[in-house]
Amino acid sequence: MVMQEMEHQNVLPSSPQPPQQRTYLGSSAVVFITSFALLVPAASTHTTLSARGGNNQSQLVVEFTYIQGAAAKGAVCLDGTLPGYNFHPGFGTGANSWLVYLEGGGWCNDIKSCLERKGGPLGSSIHMEKPYNFTGILTNKAQENPDFFNWNKVVVRYCDGACFAGEGEHEKLGLQFRGQRIYTAAMEDLMSKGMRHADQALLSGCSAGSVAVILHCDAFNSLFPRPTRVKCLSDGGLFMDTVDVSGGHHMRSLVHGVVSLQGVQRILPRSCTSRHDPVFCFFPQNLINYVRTPLFVLNAAYDYIQIQAGIAPNISDTNGKWNNGCKLNIANCSASQIKILQKFRNRMVKAVQGFSAKTQSGLFINSCFAHCQADSQDTWLSEKPPLIDNLGISLAVGDWYFDRSRVKKIDCPYPCDRTCHNRISKTSPY
Ligand SMILES: *[C@@H]1O[C@H](CO)[C@@H](O)[C@H](O)[C@H]1NC(C)=O
Ligand SMILES: *[C@@H]1O[C@H](CO)[C@@H](O)[C@H](O)[C@H]1NC(C)=O
Ligand SMILES: *[C@@H]1O[C@H](CO)[C@@H](O)[C@H](O)[C@H]1NC(C)=O
Ligand SMILES: *[C@@H]1O[C@H](CO)[C@@H](O)[C@H](O)[C@H]1NC(C)=O
Repeated sequence: MVMQEMEHQNVLPSSPQPPQQRTYLGSSAVVFITSFALLVPAASTHTTLSARGGNNQSQLVVEFTYIQGAAAKGAVCLDGTLPGYNFHPGFGTGANSWLVYLEGGGWCNDIKSCLERKGGPLGSSIHMEKPYNFTGILTNKAQENPDFFNWNKVVVRYCDGACFAGEGEHEKLGLQFRGQRIYTAAMEDLMSKGMRHADQALLSGCSAGSVAVILHCDAFNSLFPRPTRVKCLSDGGLFMDTVDVSGGHHMRSLVHGVVSLQGVQRILPRSCTSRHDPVFCFFPQNLINYVRTPLFVLNAAYDYIQIQAGIAPNISDTNGKWNNGCKLNIANCSASQIKILQKFRNRMVKAVQGFSAKTQSGLFINSCFAHCQADSQDTWLSEKPPLIDNLGISLAVGDWYFDRSRVKKIDCPYPCDRTCHNRISKTSPY
């Protein structure tokens, strides 16, 4: 599963936009950027001009650092190359606050897909584009990211193919399944480089990285002594154990492949695996109920990756009915397709009920055709961000993280929400 490049637009651009509760964009906040080099010598950063999203804004591009000691710990990418991260130091009041972000990018669920991945950017640091653009929750600009702009930020790069959670190898084919070791080596490196002094920390990630967040959340919490505020944000990771359009369970078979091939079961909570199948325990809708650390679940109810990969992949859509553009653009869906998507949303809403009842949980399920909304600027915080009850995503996450208020937001069903940034894909890889 690999993410496609997207163009984006508001489906209903002429609709009235309710004002955001508090507006940060456009305020003339002055940011003093005093980069404390800390103890991280290899990390350097620079800003470039980019035309991303049609905006002419300077963008934070952060250089790549290999994880120290990874080789000795056997912490390697699928192809045996060394893993790494992109680090941008915190400053000012954020100097002791740490945001660790686990990169996403699907997974490999059988030998064939792992061999393919091994020769690409998500399986090898040879093939990876090393610099990383920090936007949304990762940007260092106060007006674009008011609560986290001055934190230390690390993007741990994804090259194991199993949500930073596998352990094993396929020696003959030269496949290393070392996701768990990569995660651990990265944390040990970061702790030694200043993260051990953190007074606040947030583990975050998108898509497969967001599943990794849920898998590692309690272990991440346990790295820090008690008074440290530690929470986790899962963005676009609520992969549902859904029925597909042929009546089968395609997503379940993908997950079964990932878990069994890469030995992921050992990281799953024993309180779950003692009673249930590892595949059941891996599914975020179940796993979130076993996480003890405060967790925020952010997901689109019409997550297009789940529609493409779980509901209507070509292999399940035997008569090709879903190749009418619906998987690429929700505006192309027929009434009967929308009905299926509404059922999917209902199941997602139901699946988070128990989780939502916990005081410490945060929830933001908006009725958009989207996937990962915290790491792109337009959905995280912009002039016209996605809203539920006038609340935007950056504020929702900030309010929950800093205990300013409880956030449990579930949108009304499609197409009621006129603030969505519905994506338009060119192709679906599934
Ligand atoms: C990062 O931004 C630069 C422009 O600033 C762009 O050329 C590049 O493709 C972007 N990289 C990624 C991975 O999005
Ligand atoms: C972007 O804006 C700056 C001023 O804000 C200007 O100097 C620069 O030429 C612009 N770049 C592009 C590519 O439009
Ligand atoms: C999807 O809808 C747009 C108009 O909203 C149309 O231009 C396009 O051809 C449709 N795509 C497909 C594959 O039907
Ligand atoms: C899915 O089927 C459509 C229509 O036949 C085709 O255009 C597309 O390339 C297929 N996608 C994949 C990943 O096989």
